[in-house]
Amino acid sequence: MTAKNIRALKVLVFLACLAPLGKLGLEIFGLAGLGLGANPIEELIHRLGKWGLNFLLITLAVTPLRKLTGLNWLIRFRRMLGLFTFFYILMHFLTYAGLDQRFDIPVIVEDIVERPYITLGMSALLLLLPLALTSTNGMMRRLGRRWKKLHRLVYVIAGLGVWHFYWQVKEDILEPSIYICILTVLMGYRILARWRRQRATRSAYQRSDHERTAHP
Ligand code: HEM
Repeated sequence: MTAKNIRALKVLVFLACLAPLGKLGLEIFGLAGLGLGANPIEELIHRLGKWGLNFLLITLAVTPLRKLTGLNWLIRFRRMLGLFTFFYILMHFLTYAGLDQRFDIPVIVEDIVERPYITLGMSALLLLLPLALTSTNGMMRRLGRRWKKLHRLVYVIAGLGVWHFYWQVKEDILEPSIYICILTVLMGYRILARWRRQRATRSAYQRSDHERTAHP
C-alpha cells in the first residue's frame, strides 16, 4: 500500500467514523430513519454509548487482524479509531451530563456514587482520558516502553465498558452478551500471542545456551 493510497484511505475511514454522528444529526431533525422516538435524549445516550463501544472493539481488533492477514498498514488506522472511541464516549457522557442531567453536578455525583453501572462507565471514561492525551507521536516517543504499558489499560477499559452495558440492561441480555463474547475472543487472542512470544523467546534462549555448553 503506497503512502498516497493510505492518505486517501485515511480520509475515507475518517468520514466513515463520522457517519454514525451524521446519521444521528439527521434523525434529530427528522431527516432520516424514524427519528429518535418518544425519548430522544435516552435514545441519543444509547446510540452514542453503543458506537463508543463498537469503536473500542474495532480498535482492539486492529492488531489481531494485522497479524492474521499480514496487512501491516492496518496499524496506521489504529490511532484514529482509538480517538473516535474517545470522541463517541465523551459525547455519550456529555449527552447524559448536559441534556439528561442539565449539568447538575450534585445529581451527577450522586449517580456516579449510587448507581454501580454509572460508576463503571465513569471509571472507564477517566481511564480513557490519559490514553487519548498520550496518543500523539511526541508522547509516544517521550514515554517509550511506558507508553505500551499505559495503553494496555485499553483492555481494562473495554472490560469496564461491556460490564457497564451489561449492568444497565433491564431484561434482554443478548446484546451485551455478544459484546462480552467478542471482547473475550480479542483478549484470548492477545493472551495466546503473548504466551507464544514468551515460549519462542525461552526456547531460543535455551538453544543458544545448549550450543554454548556443547561447543565451549
Ligand atoms: C468506556 C465508557 C463507556 C462505554 C463503552 C459506554 C457504553 C454504553 C452502552 C453500550 C450503553 C447501552 C446502550 C444501549 O442500551 O443501546 C450505555 C448506556 C448508558 N451509559 Fe454508558 N458508556 C460509557 C461510559 C459512560 C459514562 C461515563 C456515563 C455517565 C457518567 C454513562 C452513562 C450511561 C447511561 C445513563 C446509559 C443509559 C442507561 C439507561 O438507559 O438506563 N456511560 N453506555
